[in-house]
Amino acid sequence: MRSLAMPPQGLPLSRMAPLGMLLGLLIASCFTFCLSRQNPEFALTNTEKSSTKETERKETTAEEELDPEVLEVFHPTHEWEPLRPGQAVPAGSHVRLNLQTGAREVKLQDEDKFRNNLKGSKKGKRLNINTNTYTSQDLKSALAKFKEGVETETSKEDKARQAEVKRLFRPIEELKKDFEELNVVIESDMQIMVRLINKFNSSSSSLEEKIAALFDLEYYVHQMDNAQDLFSFGGLQVVINGLNSTEPLVKEYAAFVLGAAFSSNPKVQVEAIEGGALQKLLVILATEQPLTAKKKVLFALCSLLRHFPYAQQQFLKLGGLQVLRSLVQEKGTEVLAVRVVTLLYDLVTEKMFAEEEAKLTREMSPEKLQQYRQVHLLPGLREQGWCEITAHLLALPEHDAREKVLQTLGTLLATCRDRFRQDPQLSRMLASLQAEYQALATLELQDGEDEGYFRELLGSINSLLKELR
Ligand SMILES: *[C@@H]1O[C@H](CO)[C@@H](O)[C@H](O)[C@H]1NC(C)=O
Ligand SMILES: *[C@@H]1O[C@H](CO)[C@@H](O)[C@H](O)[C@H]1NC(C)=O
Repeated sequence: MRSLAMPPQGLPLSRMAPLGMLLGLLIASCFTFCLSRQNPEFALTNTEKSSTKETERKETTAEEELDPEVLEVFHPTHEWEPLRPGQAVPAGSHVRLNLQTGAREVKLQDEDKFRNNLKGSKKGKRLNINTNTYTSQDLKSALAKFKEGVETETSKEDKARQAEVKRLFRPIEELKKDFEELNVVIESDMQIMVRLINKFNSSSSSLEEKIAALFDLEYYVHQMDNAQDLFSFGGLQVVINGLNSTEPLVKEYAAFVLGAAFSSNPKVQVEAIEGGALQKLLVILATEQPLTAKKKVLFALCSLLRHFPYAQQQFLKLGGLQVLRSLVQEKGTEVLAVRVVTLLYDLVTEKMFAEEEAKLTREMSPEKLQQYRQVHLLPGLREQGWCEITAHLLALPEHDAREKVLQTLGTLLATCRDRFRQDPQLSRMLASLQAEYQALATLELQDGEDEGYFRELLGSINSLLKELR
């Protein structure tokens, strides 16, 4: 999410020059083009990503930070303000990374109209203005002209004027040629990724530049074929090796990229296992690191393990359950604990579904089923005390955290029943939660909500109590 007016990376002023020319060209040539089609064929790089990608990115960010239903929407103003984890921003907001604090900051875009006229992009093509330079003052005056043009154009239905504009309209190929002459390059996603990886891999890049490169890269690898291309030119390994960096921020943003790249992308998941990503992720989780880094690493681990039984086996072999156990038992990691429990829930149910599916449809490949059968997750969970650990997470104060824990306790019931029965703390907690949700469910009912959230939670608690009697 970049803006011409204030690029987060701070495009050096020295690189800003024949803007007049560039904008002149845009205004003269692209003018009707942009107006007549809400979706012009290209956009200025570092301005705006296409709206579909924007949505994708937001979804993953949401998944990575918190459940979508508890996502809080942050309403930016015209000042930079810090963005807390788990907060979502409206599309088109301007986000930057503050390297001093590691926080993300957000504000409203200033030049919305301008951007709306220029934005939108054909998949994989965008205009890179790297080699050209401009100042924000140039931009503002060009913008003023541009807006004037927009108004006269839309308000008047002057035929002659339209003909004049049509005359100025030129096909996109011609435009591209003009841009090439201006040294403005239209880069493919692949070229952009290569450039970003080179930036990140270069020893002459500053920490800030490296983080910015990873931050930008994350946006590209949401697309499955981009993530596979990243592997094919060796970029994936460079990012995986970034997990070894001594800089916590590099670890964090490398994991951020990997989490997006692995997501539902089996080819990349396989390559990542080959490239040693699993060990590196576990090492980070097992050592002293900032919580923000661990969050992103846990997210990457989840994307790597989901729907990939081979990786799950390796995870168990490498002592992944012990690593996660230490993680949830550290102080101040409650937010991670809920995610860990969610991961375990997902893995347990995934394996169950695989068995079910194999029984019902015969569509599952025998190898895949075989792979799932070799994931000995439940015995491992029982041996390593996860029955108790999970049960005690019911003490978390948030309803949605308890909901996840209750769900997981239900899934572990067959494996953990005796442990649960012998756990006095669990029965006390269940009794107290039963009373609490009984009261809340009553209130909910008074509000006319007869299939409410609290009633559902109460239902889970009641059935768990019944099973443990
Ligand atoms: C990254 O840098 C290393 C060492 O400078 C180099 O050997 C390697 O080829 C680079 N990788 C990529 C993908 O550019
Ligand atoms: C990265 O870290 C892992 C685990 O800490 C270590 O085994 C490996 O040798 C390191 N690799 C590099 C390239 O430094």
